[in-house]
Amino acid sequence: MIFANWKLNPKTKERALEMAEYSDSVGVVICPPFPYIETVRGVLKNAEIGAQNCYLKNNGAYTGEVSADILKSVGCKYVILGHSERRGFFNETSKFVNEKIKHALEQNLIPVVCIGEKEKDNAIGQIKLQIKETFNDVPLENIIIAYEPVFAIGTGENCPIDLARERKNFISDLLLEGNQSKSSLKIIYGGSVNSSNAFLYLKEAGFDGVLVGTTSLDGDDFPKLSKSIIEK
Ligand code: PGA
Repeated sequence: MIFANWKLNPKTKERALEMAEYSDSVGVVICPPFPYIETVRGVLKNAEIGAQNCYLKNNGAYTGEVSADILKSVGCKYVILGHSERRGFFNETSKFVNEKIKHALEQNLIPVVCIGEKEKDNAIGQIKLQIKETFNDVPLENIIIAYEPVFAIGTGENCPIDLARERKNFISDLLLEGNQSKSSLKIIYGGSVNSSNAFLYLKEAGFDGVLVGTTSLDGDDFPKLSKSIIEK
């Protein structure tokens, strides 16, 4: 699966429609800003729609927030939760993300939950703690985990394939200490993914997909990226 995380882009609805057109392939999930969700969904023939965030309550006096219910009703199937930009800029803690995951699952949205070390030092310790708090009491078979080391996000410095494979194995070993079966765990990679490295994360590191930021805004490289994955 290829998740296109548009973040706070583009500036106009017209451009969002152009982006929808070049992104519209089977296996792609487009995650636009909230106001574009319905517009984009309306023109898609192959791709699916997700959101970039949601709150943990269904309704009520929570000015500025959007619930999983609302996202469902406008056609979203997925929601990205705990992205490092939310954790960093908006102080979202793993405990808060954990509550949002449970809320999304109650409404049958599939959470795409981001984890990944903030600093290169003691990466394993950071990932361990994040996993413990973020996935506490969460049924892993119903979620997608996105491993996104912060050094690789938006920097052009993608995580070396060997290191990504190591981290993926570490994450699945840690999560599967209990009795969940390995095949039920879905882990994707994110961080400076482009058309020349995307398939390596699937083919050589064993990830189940990619989460793509910057390249999803590029009308030349994004179609190449999705083609490279779909054809391999
Ligand atoms: P990037 O962003 O592809 O620009 O590194 C990925 C992400 O933040 O999900």
